[in-house]
Amino acid sequence: MIGLALAVILAQLPQPAPAPVAPQSDGKKLFATAKCIKCHGEDGKGDTEKGRELKAPDFTSADFQKETTDREMRSGITKGVKDKKRKVLMPAYGNKLSDEQIQLLARYVRSLGENR
Ligand code: HEC
Repeated sequence: MIGLALAVILAQLPQPAPAPVAPQSDGKKLFATAKCIKCHGEDGKGDTEKGRELKAPDFTSADFQKETTDREMRSGITKGVKDKKRKVLMPAYGNKLSDEQIQLLARYVRSLGENR
């Protein structure tokens, strides 16, 4: 009961203004809201049902980070990725996200390789 009363009181308090978010946490948020995590997983390892089915790469692996240039990351997000039979592995986001957002996401994907 006390917990509930406290929750009611807290809910009525004015919310503090949101603190400015660092680019990396922006990228992390966008990674979730743009549904990247459906395939790539919250941790970027691709260990989701869709990710395993489509063979999404492990963004935290040193090999992925070494083999993938910034340009390839941005291009993958913008144009999507198809296999040899033109089956869509990853959808294109070029018409859904701004260049700035794509840049932010690419930087976030890169950052996943850094905090291992
Ligand atoms: C439907 C599943 C799916 C969704 C949704 C998805 N991806 Fe992917 N993504 C993949 C797969 C599968 C690959 C690997 C494609 C391949 O074989 O090269 C990939 C590859 C990538 C790559 C590497 C590109 C390259 O050239 O190797 C990046 C970066 C990436 N995704 C970021 C994102 C971001 C950011 C989002 C959200 C805006 C996203 N993905 C949403 C499935 C997905």
